[in-house]
Amino acid sequence: MNKETAIETRNLFFSYRPPCPLIEALNLTVFQGEAVALLGPNGAGKSTLGLLLTGILKPSSGQLFVFGEERRDLPLCRIAQRIGYCFQNPDHQLLAVSVEEEIGFGLKYSFRTPEYIAAVSKKLLNLFEIEHLSQVFPLHLSWGEKRRVVIAACLALEPDFLILDEPTNGLDEKQIVILSRVLGSLREQGIGMLLISHDHRFAHSNAERILLMEEGKISRDYYL
Ligand SMILES: Nc1ncnc2c1ncn2[C@@H]1O[C@H](COP(=O)(O)OP(=O)(O)OP(=O)(O)O)[C@@H](O)[C@H]1O
Ligand SMILES: [Mg+2]
Repeated sequence: MNKETAIETRNLFFSYRPPCPLIEALNLTVFQGEAVALLGPNGAGKSTLGLLLTGILKPSSGQLFVFGEERRDLPLCRIAQRIGYCFQNPDHQLLAVSVEEEIGFGLKYSFRTPEYIAAVSKKLLNLFEIEHLSQVFPLHLSWGEKRRVVIAACLALEPDFLILDEPTNGLDEKQIVILSRVLGSLREQGIGMLLISHDHRFAHSNAERILLMEEGKISRDYYL
């Protein structure tokens, strides 16, 4: 049986400062169900690639396919329905007035019932040990707490594929174990993921494929 392609780029170029490309001729295929870690030095272009794959940034040229559909034919909201994304900086996606509302925010705009939203929020608050913070203003949380809230909010939407940018940044050891357990269970359900990380231990224990990015190019791509 052919494996479904979750993400594919064909000869993708991107530049913040034309004409100098940051991402050059990038060809990458990630199959659904694969857990891939994207590693590389500061400034290599990892977060930029994450923003391109979620449609937030537009490539200068080349093609991007999300579950077989070309990006330019897809509105951002369609990509967001399939790909759950957490920014490297959690402040970039906190927008509700309480943690509980933050977790249910996307569901509210997916027209889910209040009962469904309450049940999902409760489960995720419990899973990430943030029940006691449910009524706190998200921007007042500690860095690691913010990280857990944005990951919980992303998972609430039950995406088919996850892109998490530095998901362990700010998390203590116990919370990294909890996150790894959650990701392991999603992998068992066939959910694919791209984990952008500087945490090599986390990357190697949660991914089966490693991509190394240097100066806008994938310099190594191997299975563990
Ligand atoms: N909005 C922007 N405008 C101009 N240049 C940018 C912008 N965002 C990022 N860059 C530049 O693009 C390069 C790649 O940035 P990016 O954030 O993708 O790197 P990264 O691999 O994620 O690094 P890190 O490991 O520090 O998170 C950097 O040199 C950065 O300064
Ligand atoms: Mg980055």
